[in-house]
Amino acid sequence: MARILVTGGTGYIGSHTTVELMQQGYDVTIVDNLSNSSIDVLDGIAAIVGKKPDFANIDCGNFVDLDAVFKQYPDIVGVIHFAASKAVGESVEKPLLYYRNNLGSLCTLLEVMRLHQVTNLVFSSSCTVYGQPDAAHLPVDETAPIQAALSPYGNTKQINEEIIRDEAHADKTLNATILRYFNPIGAHPSAHIGELPNGVPQNLLPFITQTATGLRPELKVFGNDYNTPDGSCIRDYIYVVDLAKAHVKAIDRMLNAADREQVEVFNLGTGTGLSVLTLINEFEAATGVKIPYTIVGRREGDIEQVWAAPKKANEVLGWKADTPIRDVLASAWKWEKRIRNIK
Ligand code: NAD
Ligand code: WQD
Repeated sequence: MARILVTGGTGYIGSHTTVELMQQGYDVTIVDNLSNSSIDVLDGIAAIVGKKPDFANIDCGNFVDLDAVFKQYPDIVGVIHFAASKAVGESVEKPLLYYRNNLGSLCTLLEVMRLHQVTNLVFSSSCTVYGQPDAAHLPVDETAPIQAALSPYGNTKQINEEIIRDEAHADKTLNATILRYFNPIGAHPSAHIGELPNGVPQNLLPFITQTATGLRPELKVFGNDYNTPDGSCIRDYIYVVDLAKAHVKAIDRMLNAADREQVEVFNLGTGTGLSVLTLINEFEAATGVKIPYTIVGRREGDIEQVWAAPKKANEVLGWKADTPIRDVLASAWKWEKRIRNIK
């Protein structure tokens, strides 16, 4: 069977994608420098699929090390590139770290792929490239305008997309699939793998689950005076397992479809926007646990409302995010309880 190289494969989305790839019969080699993940994730993957994926603890920006991995695995037919630094706030504090890591690792990867004639790349992009779409572009499809990035992190995603397009223009053998994720949440239903945020979570659901355990006294809801039905911000929360499955579909298509364009872009979301207050209510309904919260001022740089039009992914990839939100929230709670040893 074909081998897929998964960069950042011990991370949150990479580990779930590795599981889905292996369950579909792909061989997987993960490269990760463990800067934001733990080696123990390999055991979690093995507990689900029955064996560990191959693993190399290397930095994707290191040409010599990455080249050695491609030499060791001449059966690699495609790469899914998750490896990146992803904390928006940290990127404002340390922009050079973000530009070096996120741009450097992609450039090195593309050089090594070209050297080894590996021609299929799936890239993790983000709905952040759309900024706040105007009303005419909600829900957001792939033709919505790209807007000036609000953070160095967001800018790296935009530049990464441009690097991929430029390289594909220069090298007509390179095929790329750019996946723009909306808000990934939840954990594998087995609770063997999930999200492991570093320090105080910046994202909403890990903050909710940590508040549910008592680790955080209360959730702060950033604003209830937005122009939305309940005044809180709206996002498209997509289950990480559904998201992982989209990557397998993207790889299948790259390896099998004759009619694809050289660079394809897909928005990956559910097509439904949920407000912050709705998500809290749904979490309480799914778990029976009350979330203490207070409304505070708006968070700087927040987008008011954004959700996906996933029609292209539904039709072209034959993929749909259809896990009910309460099952998704229950999976996040099961994972949080497991890592905190709560019965
Ligand atoms: P994550 O931090 O859990 O996973 C990223 C992994 O990459 C980590 O295991 C980290 O150790 C590794 N890594 C980072 N730099 C590396 C390098 N130079 N060499 C080797 N390994 C390196 O993040 P995630 O949430 O799984 O995100 C995966 C990808 O999806 C990222 O590119 C991220 O920007 C993108 N994305 C994430 C979200 C989200 O909300 N989680 C949304 C949109 C896009
Ligand atoms: C969701 C909603 C907050 C925490 C970020 C990145 C983006 C992308 C996805 C990678 C917002 C509210 C949050 C809290 C709250 N990542 N909130 N209290 O802002 O959509 O996007 O993750 O590409 O680039 O910026 O996600 O989870 O931070 O926030 O009220 O303690 O929850 O205001 O409305 P966001 P989030």
